[in-house]
Amino acid sequence: MSGLTPYDPRCEHLTEPLGLDEPSPRFGWRLRSAEGGQRQTAYRIRVAEAGGDSRWDSGWVPGSDHAAVIYAGPPLRPRTRYDWTLELRDVTGAACAPLSSWFETGVGQPGTGRWTARWIHADPAIVPPAQPPGPSDRSERTRRLTPPVQFRREFSLAAAPGRARAYVAARGVYELRVNGTKAGDQELAPGWTEYRRRIQYQAYDITGLLRAGRNAVAITVADGWWCGYVGGDTRQHARHYGVRPELIAEITADDVTVGTGTEWRYGDGAIRYADLLMGSRTDTRAATAGWDRPGFDDASWPRAVLSQTPDVTLAAQPDQPVRVTLTLPAVSVRRVDGAGGVAGVGGAAGERRVVDFGQNMAGRVRLTVRDAPAGNVIAIRHGEALETDGGGLYTRNLRTAEATDVYVTGGGAAEVFEPQFTVHGFRYAEVTGHAIAADDVTAQVMHNDTPWTGEFECSDPLLNRLAANIGWGQRSNFVAVPTDCPQRDERQGWLADAQVFAPTACRNADLAAFFARWLRDVRDGQSTDGAFGDIAPMVGVRPEGAPGWGDAGVLIPWQLWLEYGDKRVLEQSWDSMTAWVAHIVRHNPDLLWRHRAGSNYGDWLHVGEDTPRDLVATAYFARSARTVADTARVIGHDPGGYDDLASRIAAAFTAEFARPDGTVGNGTQTGYLLALAFGLVTGETARQAFGRLAASVADNGPLTGFLGLPLLCPVLAAHGRADLAYAVLQREDYPSLGYQIAQGATTIWERWDGWTAERGFQAAEMNSFNHYALGAVGDWLYGGIAGIGQRGAAYRDIVIAPVPGGGLTWACARQTTVRGVIASEWHIEGDQLTVEVDLPPGPDCEVVLPGEFPGGTRHVLVPGRHTLSAAWPMPHPPSKTPD
Ligand code: BGC
Repeated sequence: MSGLTPYDPRCEHLTEPLGLDEPSPRFGWRLRSAEGGQRQTAYRIRVAEAGGDSRWDSGWVPGSDHAAVIYAGPPLRPRTRYDWTLELRDVTGAACAPLSSWFETGVGQPGTGRWTARWIHADPAIVPPAQPPGPSDRSERTRRLTPPVQFRREFSLAAAPGRARAYVAARGVYELRVNGTKAGDQELAPGWTEYRRRIQYQAYDITGLLRAGRNAVAITVADGWWCGYVGGDTRQHARHYGVRPELIAEITADDVTVGTGTEWRYGDGAIRYADLLMGSRTDTRAATAGWDRPGFDDASWPRAVLSQTPDVTLAAQPDQPVRVTLTLPAVSVRRVDGAGGVAGVGGAAGERRVVDFGQNMAGRVRLTVRDAPAGNVIAIRHGEALETDGGGLYTRNLRTAEATDVYVTGGGAAEVFEPQFTVHGFRYAEVTGHAIAADDVTAQVMHNDTPWTGEFECSDPLLNRLAANIGWGQRSNFVAVPTDCPQRDERQGWLADAQVFAPTACRNADLAAFFARWLRDVRDGQSTDGAFGDIAPMVGVRPEGAPGWGDAGVLIPWQLWLEYGDKRVLEQSWDSMTAWVAHIVRHNPDLLWRHRAGSNYGDWLHVGEDTPRDLVATAYFARSARTVADTARVIGHDPGGYDDLASRIAAAFTAEFARPDGTVGNGTQTGYLLALAFGLVTGETARQAFGRLAASVADNGPLTGFLGLPLLCPVLAAHGRADLAYAVLQREDYPSLGYQIAQGATTIWERWDGWTAERGFQAAEMNSFNHYALGAVGDWLYGGIAGIGQRGAAYRDIVIAPVPGGGLTWACARQTTVRGVIASEWHIEGDQLTVEVDLPPGPDCEVVLPGEFPGGTRHVLVPGRHTLSAAWPMPHPPSKTPD
């Protein structure tokens, strides 16, 4: 048997997906081997209906494709489980141990997909069961919120089913319970999409939850993104999509089908409101005990009514759901006095305690309340920071998001409170109304459960903290959509933030499915004129996308191709990519992007260096045009026109903004970076431009905003000034990310100076302490310091080119790529540099080492582990002249 081992079988980028609507799913796997020089030479995939007939046999296919093998059998049947088996041959032609997995189709296979269930909602004409009059501790905004709706239905089964599924979607956010037990482990389902076009449904295996006799299905639906507070809209009650939650659900148990309709009844219960931004209120005394189990008397509950809301596509969720992925203990619990707390919540003499979890994050607090009398009101407020005077919670930067969860006790000996249908961005929680102990409180970290794929570590603790902060920024902001920030009343899918961070994000985690899913919302938000938006899904105003923002519709699909070899996302994006470029050309025939540039934010949040907006715009225009040309080459379109367009935009850029002495625009760092990184200046102009950039960085540190910063370290290093790239990352003076760390940051801040000793907090209107955008430097930790890179896509042509420097004595990175794990590690001991690489099976790899090594600095190595060493420091620092 071969020493080549395939592992991690995936279908549509997912492990054992349940509920797949894609008619031609793609299969992928990773490779590892303890033997050097291994690679796959042929594969064979067989797909069979579970326990049944074969549906497809690819036959033996020569080659090394392992990232996206497309199913090419007869049409798949809906709601059907398929087993698939992978066989491989290795470099010697020997067979590898076969690998098996499964996927199950959902409701919506084209041509066959059918929902028998109907959308339902509470009857607006029937007053819902009485609500207690607004308690004094309810704010103006939360008084406008109503209880989540509890829908239920019972049915009988003659026997325990052999196979049962639930397919559920909501206009709102829901939780499914079957016979008293929560089904699945996801949170905030069905997630957020462009609801006017598409709502996701989730599939659940509920076989083990049903039984012979009476069964109860109980589904709670809260406002969520559908009709809760969403986005930066501070109007009364911002309802972007609808006015009340709606539900559709279909349960199949062998040959019995139960779908939502007018037989379902509804009521309310312990949760008095639950909102993503405002928080929630749970009053245990209002619980309708047993409502989620069979036998509950619901005769007094009204019947649901059928929805008149226009139908939209119901699409199986194609990516990993939001889950609680980590639980953090309290680092400290401290009593605070003075003003604060929640009006009306007195509890035990107004006791307030501030819990520090030691880490900024997105999620919720889980509280165990012991020996509290019934009716005790406990309030949990969330914040990212403490006021500097006296240590109370700082919440002004949340703007209108109240982020407060209230719990009214029921008098049990130990009651557990886990707020539902809400999520907050916080490091600290202030608990009022109960004297909690550290053991009784934890923080539950929530985000889309995308597999973590990257690790970086080195001898400098500052860089390690930077890598950790970047990772936490990512964990906190991949919640349903890639958000700008998880705490204030915004939490939207801003395109530029996602675009600049995508290369780093894809190193840290497998985002193939997540980003591909969100890109549908990006495309759905495109105007008829071809303009992508600034945010997706679109809420509130619908401006045309700004330069660097709208361009995400071109650049993120390309990133997914590079990282995961996902050609389909390029094919799906092609029309919208070309429409975007055509839109800019149409309104800017001189190829300088000055018109229809949306809100044209420029280099957002730069440090006093305002790069001309038309310069930034034109650079991005060139970049998108070039990327469209590259895309054409990959998916078989004619790139000629786009190559030509990109060259003409570059020429227009040079003529307008670059001078022979190398000055670009008004001489800002970002101007130089865009010109150099996007290849818009060449030759002597580029050399001079780089000199000016390097001088500015040496004198000032980084002065860029969101758009310039990701380019800074790669450009400095590519032009022979890795020393400056290190200096940027290791600096602790303002402005720098090290400065944030020196102030105690555990995530990446929105602003370089979110808090300073001299001034305190930045303006509360815009001061998030958990924005991932500036964390885009993370790509260089992997690709620069550790040197993990590639030519082309999907790590077929791996290039490892570590860049020692910055006084580090060692650094290492491991990245689980589509091909397998790539590791690069280096150590400096005395005058010796040792580099160890681990290269996954596949084509040979190139390792480019600094300094003088036996056999030169370029080595072509077969897959496997290698150790190289040579004299250090380099006698001649490498220098590269821009072409
Ligand atoms: C967001 C940003 C976003 C920007 C647009 C802000 O409010 O938080 O991250 O990109 O608006 O300029």
